[in-house]
Amino acid sequence: KTNRTFTMIKPDAVANGHIGAILDHITKAGFKIVALKYTALSAQKAGEFYAVHSERGFYADLVNFMSSGPIVAAILEKDNAIADFRTLIGATDPTKADAGTIRNLFAKSIEANAVHGSDSDENADIEGSFFFSAFERF
Ligand code: CMP
Repeated sequence: KTNRTFTMIKPDAVANGHIGAILDHITKAGFKIVALKYTALSAQKAGEFYAVHSERGFYADLVNFMSSGPIVAAILEKDNAIADFRTLIGATDPTKADAGTIRNLFAKSIEANAVHGSDSDENADIEGSFFFSAFERF
């Protein structure tokens, strides 16, 4: 359980043609792809996914952005997956993300920040189950 995380390649990174490069970074860092889907979030689904942020000032913009185009959703497996993936993607604000991290390389702004990464084992389970059934995990 401690070895899985959930990620999305967000609409900005998809629109900018970075799906392949980001998946390459992820697999080269030692993450195994357990589940993978090219899909999109309706505004309602984006609102549900980010419900934890519903009181934040950026929530409406975030929901609007996350439903603005297709995304890639994935469940990833690796020892220490949650922490190692957060290291790989870098800080939420790309201007603060370390050189060579996915957000440093591909993100445009704190909102359009290329990728999502789960912040806990519990949220990785919840977020993975939001997109994938047991039959879609390998
Ligand atoms: P994510 O890791 O997917 O989780 C919540 C998202 O909210 C975050 O990435 C950003 O895309 C967005 N976010 C966080 N803080 C801000 C902010 N201050 N302004 C706009 N968007 C934000």
